[in-house]
Amino acid sequence: MSGAILIDHPLIQHKLTIMRNKETPPPLFRALLREISFLMGYEVTRNMPTEDVEIETPVAKTSQPKLAGRKMCIHSILRAGNGLMEGLLELIPTAKVGHIGLYRDHKDLHAVEYYFKVPNHLDERFNLVVDPMLATGNSAIAALERIKQADAKKITFLCLLAAPEGIKALNEAHPDVTIYTAAIDDRLNEKSYIVPGLGDAGDRIYGTL
Ligand code: URA
Repeated sequence: MSGAILIDHPLIQHKLTIMRNKETPPPLFRALLREISFLMGYEVTRNMPTEDVEIETPVAKTSQPKLAGRKMCIHSILRAGNGLMEGLLELIPTAKVGHIGLYRDHKDLHAVEYYFKVPNHLDERFNLVVDPMLATGNSAIAALERIKQADAKKITFLCLLAAPEGIKALNEAHPDVTIYTAAIDDRLNEKSYIVPGLGDAGDRIYGTL
């Protein structure tokens, strides 16, 4: 048991390998992240509830399934989370979006909050928290604590790459939250970057290297 659900579809692995390559420029990196968010979003939303509604096709009246309940909420851990969130929002345009601004304190790496804006009724929504990199787990743990304070109950965490250290920390702090990832890498280095990883996801998305 790794403590996370691995979505290791060959298409995702192929795109991820191109993203990891340090020669891949930001426009291609962003395009691949968007494509992967579609593929992962398909899997992560697999168990969303549906309800039958009455419609009329050009041929006949019929009862067919639609997503049930309040709209889901995608919570982006800024800024790299936006790369995943924007693709997911294309896939699920009716989703609400929460923004959680956290930065890593350079001394002890703990997460410091600088922005928090989420929709109401989180207790009735499927909450999907996204950040491409699960490294130490500090930001993810803090983000999950914050949305739980805002009443979120049903929560899933989605990342692209996870370090075993981050999975362990997140599982211990939030055992009720399922983690989905496209890869589990080897370890963290002394600067808490994922190895082999892909570098700083925010810098790779926005070209701020
Ligand atoms: N955040 C990143 O963007 N990359 C890492 O390797 C770790 C944390």
